[in-house]
Parts: sequence; structure tokens; C-alpha cells
Amino acid sequence: MTEKVTVRLEPLGKDLDITIGTPLIDVINEYGIEFPCGGKGICGRCKVKLLSGNIEVDFMHQIFLETLRLDPEWRLACLSTVNQNITLEISQLDSIILADNTNFDFTPRTGFGIAVDLGTSTIVAQLVDLSSGKVCDVQTSINPQSRYGADIMSRISFALTTNGLNILSEQIRKQIGSMINNLISTKNIDIEKITIVGNTVMHNLFCNIDVSGLAMYPFEPAEAGFKYFSPKQLDWNFLKETKIVFYPSLGSFVGSDILAGIEASGLHKRNEITALIDLGTNGEIVLGNSSGILCASTAAGPAFEGTNISMGMKATTGAVSSVTLNNESFDVHVIGNVPPRGICGSGLIDAVAVLLESGKIDFSGQKVNDADELIICEGIKLTQHDIQEFQLAKAAIAAGLQILVNRLGKTLQDIDRLYIAGGFGNFINLDNVIKLGLIEISIHKIHKLGNSALIGAKMLLFMEEEPVKEILKLTTHVSLESNKNFQDIFTDKMFFV
Ligand code: FES
Repeated sequence: MTEKVTVRLEPLGKDLDITIGTPLIDVINEYGIEFPCGGKGICGRCKVKLLSGNIEVDFMHQIFLETLRLDPEWRLACLSTVNQNITLEISQLDSIILADNTNFDFTPRTGFGIAVDLGTSTIVAQLVDLSSGKVCDVQTSINPQSRYGADIMSRISFALTTNGLNILSEQIRKQIGSMINNLISTKNIDIEKITIVGNTVMHNLFCNIDVSGLAMYPFEPAEAGFKYFSPKQLDWNFLKETKIVFYPSLGSFVGSDILAGIEASGLHKRNEITALIDLGTNGEIVLGNSSGILCASTAAGPAFEGTNISMGMKATTGAVSSVTLNNESFDVHVIGNVPPRGICGSGLIDAVAVLLESGKIDFSGQKVNDADELIICEGIKLTQHDIQEFQLAKAAIAAGLQILVNRLGKTLQDIDRLYIAGGFGNFINLDNVIKLGLIEISIHKIHKLGNSALIGAKMLLFMEEEPVKEILKLTTHVSLESNKNFQDIFTDKMFFV
């Protein structure tokens, strides 16, 4: 019988039983890990950290590790073979989750703080030295509530079942508590403050607040303000006098992750009109300046996440992640350099753009020749329904921004700067975003902000509550659907400009 060993992947917390002697590249290929230099040991992008067990390194592997200045616990996955039980921390999974290490202005304080970005799918917790602003350690994890559904509506449904709310609340508190414990257990430090940000549903579930108001129109939370906890209330008894704050939502489905995004972007301090857009299933849009801010959420649907698309998939190994037009044909990039299995959100945007540019679809999204299949590359094609799903998502975002601009009495051209927040935004081709009319402003005004929720949560560690209350006072939540022109604007934005 072939001997098996176990590989544990962190921060996924996944155990894989594999045959002894398997190349590590074969083990982690399926998890979206890329091998940019083709496994030559040069780029270092496939580096993994050994948390337990060992991977022997040969002479060349050692030379590459030294050249890349990696400490002894690091290995290059492309040059490694698994011969015993090991636990690995995979840095690419961290960067997929977007653990940020951005610099920002702050007034130094004493002690340490922890910033938590509680997302529907992933959680990131950063340990921050308050005297230097440096991130000393990071914990990332999948949100354990995911087993009750991937999106916020399924979490709400489960929360409304008998004892569902308590289960979800307990689970998330326990998970974040254990991440915080992991961050500090070996360090002998006291934590002054913990800031937690997340969407409105995450806020309510963490705080154990009834979510029935979010299940039906007008989708108002029962409560979504500042929530303060002592370690004892959360059963985080390993902490002493730590102040724990869950930050307030801005309204309906616009949560404190967006509030943190406002802080990170600084739009509330600028005179020029600035927009902030998070392109998720629940697209959030913020627009304004130091005189006033409007915010809204829009049901963009999951097309940008590769869902509801016939060959759609998440941005992992085998996904077509970009498409370019090369004369008559299309060139594609497939994550992981393997045969394509599907197409992810960034690939979908590119694919629709090249189909339009090559004349295979028209400005209304219809196939020009009914008999043609919308082939992107061998094995991957889009259907007419896929194009329509994309149009619905792009129209939701474009119409949302247009309505907020109209409400301010401005035009899209008056927007001085537009930030794209979130992980997905980091990977999209801005030229195509503009060509398709997803965002209708000049490219030089658009900036990718990364994980603005986490950057903001870190900034909140250094702030009192008063400046945050000022942002709340400045901000008005707009219900897009109740705007009398919504349908007309939405329909108009379905077309490609
Ligand atoms: S893929 Fe480049 S070092 Fe491993």
C-alpha cells in the first residue's frame, strides 16, 4: 500500500492526504497558487512557510532561498517534495485574502492593537504596533459561517431559523477570538484596542442582533451603530482590559467596511468630488467630499465573482483571468498555467470587451451572428445569457453611480477621483472597465485602493470615536430602487457605450 502523509494548508485550515514523495506543486496547484517563473526557483512567488514538519532542500534550492533572502522556515513550493506530515502557510493565499501592509499617517500611541476585517467569505486580523503603525503579524481565515451559505442572504435565512442567530454569532466570535489568541499567545503583550469592521449582516451576526429587518424591503437593520464589548462578554478571557469596538454601518447594506474605506480613501477630507466603489455581489458606492457624502448599495449579482456564468468560476487555478485581442484571435491568461477550466470575473470583463471589439456582439450585447458561438479559447465559451448577466451587473454599478451623481447635482465628469476597493478590483483591466461603460470616467482618475476595509480598520486603531461620528453625520444613505428614474437609468446602462 502506498504510504500517505498529511499536508495542512494555512490559512485555509485544509488537510490533504497525499502519497509520500508527491511534488508540492501538484498538491497546491488546485488552490489558486501561481508559479510565475514556471517553477525555476527564480521569482519566489510560490514561497511557503513551514509551520511544522520539514521539507528537505537540495543544493540548488538552498541557493535560490539565499538569493531571495528567505529565512530558514521558507521553501519554494516549485522545488519541494512532500515526504512527511507538514503544515504550510501559503503566502499567496494571504495575498489573495489581501492582508494589507499599507503605510498611513497616524499619531503614535503606546501598546498594540488589532484590526479585524470581518468579510462574508474571509476574515483578516492584523496585530499592529501602535507606536510605529507597523503590522507585526497577520491571521487570515475563511469565515466559518460559510457552511451556512456563501452570500449574506443565505446567512440571514439561517439566522432566522431556531437558534440560528446564536449559532452564527457564537461561531464568528469564537473564530475571531482564536485568531486574536494566535496573534498574541507567544508575544506577552497587552492589547489596548480591537477594531472590527464588516458589512451590516456581519455586524448584526457578530453582535447577536435580530436580522429579520434585513430579510425584506426596506432592508433596514434593527440596530447597526457602534457596539462595544469587554473581553468577558465575548468569552475572550485571554485578554485583559482591551477595548473592543464593532464600527457602525452607514445604512441598510452599506456596512462599516465601507466606513473604513472612506477613512482609508480620505474622501471625507477632500474638497474635490471623490467616489469609492466596491465591486462585490452587493456593490457599494460612495460619492462626496468634505461637505457631504452619499452612499448606496446595489444588487450587482454575482457575475463579477464568476457565479451565474455558464463556465464561471472563482479566480483560482484553471480560470481564464484575462483575455486580449490579437488580430482576429483571442489570447488568454489562465491562472496556474494549466488548461482552462472556466472563466473568473476579471476574465469575464475582458472577454466581453474583446467580443465587443471584434464585432461578435453589438452595443446591446446581442450576438451579431446568431449561429456563432462566443468562443474565448479552446474549451471556454460564453452564452448569450452570460453576456446578459454581465450587463445586469455592470448596469447596477453604473446606474448606482449615476443616481448618486445626479442627486449631488453633478455630472460623472465632475468626479475628480474614483477609488476601486476590494480584492476583485485589484485584478481588473481598467481599459476594459471603461470601454464597457462599467465606470464612465477617465482612466487617469481611477485608482485601485486594495483592501480599504482593512486599511481603514487599522487607521481606526489610532482614532477616537468622534471623527468617525463626523463621517456618519456627513453621510446620507440613498435607496437606489426608490429613485423614480432608477429603471430608466438602469436600462440605459445595460448598453455598451
Ligand atoms: S514559481 Fe517561481 S520560484 Fe517557484
